[in-house]
Amino acid sequence: MKVGFLGFGEVASTLSVGLMKNGAEVYTCVKGRSTRTRNNILKSGVETYPSYKALAENSDIIISSVVPSEAIEVAEMVGKYSSGIYVDINNVSPKTVVNALYMIENGKTVDAAIIGSVAKNGIDVKVIASGYCANEFADLNHYGMNITVVGGLNGQASGIKLLRSSYTKGVSALLFESIYHAYKMGIDREVLKYISETECPDFIESAKSRIISAAYHAQRRSEEMDEVVEMLSGKQDPIMARGTMDFFRMLGEDIKKPEKRPVEYNEIFEYLMKIKE
Ligand SMILES: NC(=O)c1ccc[n+]([C@@H]2O[C@H](COP(=O)([O-])OP(=O)(O)OC[C@H]3O[C@@H](n4cnc5c(N)ncnc54)[C@H](OP(=O)(O)O)[C@@H]3O)[C@@H](O)[C@H]2O)c1
Repeated sequence: MKVGFLGFGEVASTLSVGLMKNGAEVYTCVKGRSTRTRNNILKSGVETYPSYKALAENSDIIISSVVPSEAIEVAEMVGKYSSGIYVDINNVSPKTVVNALYMIENGKTVDAAIIGSVAKNGIDVKVIASGYCANEFADLNHYGMNITVVGGLNGQASGIKLLRSSYTKGVSALLFESIYHAYKMGIDREVLKYISETECPDFIESAKSRIISAAYHAQRRSEEMDEVVEMLSGKQDPIMARGTMDFFRMLGEDIKKPEKRPVEYNEIFEYLMKIKE
């Protein structure tokens, strides 16, 4: 099995190590890439082709793992040459993934989405896939990957990822707002305790961690919610998603990302009280 990667950042370098360990041949192309990417390629020991055309022509499966803003451009660059299955694993909306995969002339396409962190889980990271060739892409499970096919259409896997993320971010925003107000009233522990009675057993610990993450990643989350709002916008305004987006935008403006992730939510709340109240 020959697997090609377009882009060689965290995703490609992590997956390629696992794939090679399990017997796959892995390739990429360094043309036009930064020193960081070239170092990733050297460290992982994958083979390189001199051009993206050669990479696309010779890969059984080619995976686009670039930055979201480049997903369509990269697909367009190799669309004429891709002879195997083309997989878009970027963090993009269903609309963007459909537009990117439309560029692949042989029509052998897969919409894939990573659920979780590649750095934490390595090749075991959960990947969901949909599209015409999702089952063939799932053959990479024989080479160590953890792919679940969720549908037959491009856009479905990205849709699941985006809506899941809208839900979790919405809950985090509501939790942050409620516990911040409880903290100012001196009743945060009690509020957490009473909510935990109707939630899962480890709710309090996970709530604390969610509050801290909400503040630490506020800026990135507001950008991700932009995409959700765009996807859900139609005749009816997506009120909850828009509220979540506005919440994270405001929080991101108030809290500049600190060097280190705070350990306790008190640090964040005290800072907010100092600058806002
Ligand atoms: N890391 C994760 O845990 C994770 C989880 C879920 C989803 N994702 C998604 O997976 C994708 C890859 O993530 P990553 O963490 O590997 O990103 P990354 O570390 O930033 O790497 C991106 C790679 O794409 C290359 N690239 C950028 N533009 C390109 C172009 N036009 N042609 C060819 N290569 C190009 C970059 O090369 P240069 O260095 O030369 O710019 C770099 O090698 C992203 O869409 C991300 O949202 C990542």
